[in-house]
Amino acid sequence: MYTNFPENLGNPQWFVDARFGMFIHFGLYSLPARHEWVMTLEEIEAENYQKYFDNFNPDLFEPKELAKLAKKSGFKYVVFTAKHHDGFAMWDSKYTDYKVTNTPYKKDIMKEVIDAFRSEGIEIGLYYSLIDWNHADFKIDGYHPDRNRVDLEKESQKDMTKYQQFIKNQITELLTEYGDISYLWFDFSYENKFKDHLKGKGKNDWDSENLEKLILELQPNIILNDRLDLKRGVTTHEQYQRAKSSSEDKVVWEGCQTLNGSWGYHRDNDNFKTSEMIIKMLIDTVSNDGNLLLNIGPNARGQIDKTSRKLLGEIGEWMGLHSKSIYKSEGSTVTPPADCRYTIRDNKLYLHIFSWPYRTLTLKNIPKKVKYAQLLNDYSELKVIEAGV
Ligand code: GLC
Repeated sequence: MYTNFPENLGNPQWFVDARFGMFIHFGLYSLPARHEWVMTLEEIEAENYQKYFDNFNPDLFEPKELAKLAKKSGFKYVVFTAKHHDGFAMWDSKYTDYKVTNTPYKKDIMKEVIDAFRSEGIEIGLYYSLIDWNHADFKIDGYHPDRNRVDLEKESQKDMTKYQQFIKNQITELLTEYGDISYLWFDFSYENKFKDHLKGKGKNDWDSENLEKLILELQPNIILNDRLDLKRGVTTHEQYQRAKSSSEDKVVWEGCQTLNGSWGYHRDNDNFKTSEMIIKMLIDTVSNDGNLLLNIGPNARGQIDKTSRKLLGEIGEWMGLHSKSIYKSEGSTVTPPADCRYTIRDNKLYLHIFSWPYRTLTLKNIPKKVKYAQLLNDYSELKVIEAGV
């Protein structure tokens, strides 16, 4: 039914119905608080990055409160950063010492998140970075913080098959010790980026085919995104939305978006979107048959900054009244009036009005006769006049 979900992959229906997910970027980079790529943007050496590990202690992190906020804001699934590019494990992994339980925080923070969100009925997704700037066998490439400090001799002794095994071990751990995981979100492949000794990495570097096989053996119902470089799984667009696909090429897609341009907490970045922009983006996404994965980045104390909280509150308020037109909904093939979007669910057509027309809207080519029309926020009747042809 979906061209990017062959039969051997899990059934994505729950995902398509959910439409709205919360992305959480939380890790060591929350301490420097100037973008989750800080290690490579500033070419920080491992010894210098260590201070964030030594000081990781989000003392005000309240996973239960966060899960409640997520539910109230209308999110149906969560994607939590188990490991980002710096290689730091947010769970008690037995395959590395570079993990949360060895920091002053001591607890398995990922488990706390999973338990809290699960008990709110939110589907669990995990983000896993294929890139790893901490692993001894991960070859330096053009994205690596050490790209200008390459020792070719040392590089030639690295064994990427050891790193592939490490990925398999960690993924096995994630899929056997934390109950049912609904969604695995890999990040990312860049085979054709950079040249020569700094060449990028793709499916052969990750051993993606075998990794996917292993995952499906462990959890046959899980769904995966497309960043293993196998050209299947949820198509994940980064910070841009896509247009509706044709009926012959129906794909499961998800646009992931930040609140302010940074995924990890970024103290000095006030470039926030407004709730109106985000809500319109969500509607637009659903009207094009996609999902929106909206990010938050807790700060080093584990708190969500005031602006993000305010935005989530406003989104939640809107969802409280309008989510019927979002969940289990899809787009329409009929063109809506200018500045409007259509979503459809259960034989009901929802018209989302981005720009208020003051009085009258003309709907054309509606396939069925309109029996009754009302506003969704208060169910107040709207007058329908059938125009003559
Ligand atoms: C990118 C970035 C990363 C972020 C991700 C979210 O690939 O490398 O920092 O986690 O996108 O989509």
